[in-house]
Amino acid sequence: MTALTSALQRLPKVELHCHVEGTMRPSTVVELAGKNGIALPTEDPTQLYRYTSLDTFLEIFWLVQSVLGDRDDWARLAYESVVDGVEHGLAYRETFFTPARHLDVGQDLADIVAGLAEGLAAAEDETGVRVMLIADIDRAYGPGPGLEMVERLVELRRAGAAGTERVLGLGLDSTELGVDPRDFAAAFELAGREGLRRTSHQGEVTPPTTIQAGIDVLGCERIDHGLSLMDDPELTQRFVDERIPLTVCPNSNIRIANAFPRLEEHPYPRMRERGLLATLNTDDPALTDLDLTEEYRSVMEAFGYTWNDMVAIALDGVEASWLDDDDARALRGRITEEGERLGAELTD
Ligand code: ADE
Ligand code: ZN
Repeated sequence: MTALTSALQRLPKVELHCHVEGTMRPSTVVELAGKNGIALPTEDPTQLYRYTSLDTFLEIFWLVQSVLGDRDDWARLAYESVVDGVEHGLAYRETFFTPARHLDVGQDLADIVAGLAEGLAAAEDETGVRVMLIADIDRAYGPGPGLEMVERLVELRRAGAAGTERVLGLGLDSTELGVDPRDFAAAFELAGREGLRRTSHQGEVTPPTTIQAGIDVLGCERIDHGLSLMDDPELTQRFVDERIPLTVCPNSNIRIANAFPRLEEHPYPRMRERGLLATLNTDDPALTDLDLTEEYRSVMEAFGYTWNDMVAIALDGVEASWLDDDDARALRGRITEEGERLGAELTD
């Protein structure tokens, strides 16, 4: 490993767009499939990890998700996701989980949230790294099950159920084509009324009208991906003026959405030059042969960024996060200090 890659690995980083199921180690996929009687088409799941579109990716994501059978499985997944992230400088993460198919087959949201929170707490005790949760609605299941999930989450929060304090917000993911985000307005309205933060995947493979619906109809404070945003200059200006964050995943857009043949063609640098708060994230690292170090390294190389550019990207993650002011200030200080120390080492 070069000195630069090693410095990027050690730079404290924030991640705001990472699906916990998309962090599952291949060995865990195999073990949980065995435990829960799920047939996998191969003994080496990584053989399945090549995609031609978002929807072909989702077929595999759903297969991986299906191996999670009980509370202990969710706890293991959450724990391992943090331990693996810490190896790559993860300092703070707001992570998605998308339980639609588990709820559909009778798992209780209470067990899923309690399991995830238990795994995150164990990893936090060991590593000092905090990870919070965003409950995602799966668009493919439609607005009815989405609203039911939020209603159950609200019920659990009001009852002070185990782990609900880790759930910061509501998100929306999965397939975009043929789905109108406005159909999910009731679920997002309820979440907003209950004090949950809101974000949604929009514009990964759809035009900027869905991004606009995300902020104006669903009340989102952030947009996940937002890849098509710059096709609408007026909407882009609003995002710049209002500092509405985008959680961009450049390598995912190459490997999952197949939006561009090469990373060099991704609009990430143009987004940042335009003044957008475009953060950097991995999306589904274990399903795309990625990690935070490689995301930072490849972006730095593809776009000719300097060390200070990369520190600025890490700091933008803090601004876009839902940390309270004191925690955000502390994390900003840590990234700045480490960034300066590591940068000085590189120029020695
Ligand atoms: N679920 C997991 N990864 C996703 C992505 N990139 N887009 C939509 N839904 C997802
Ligand atoms: Zn995503």
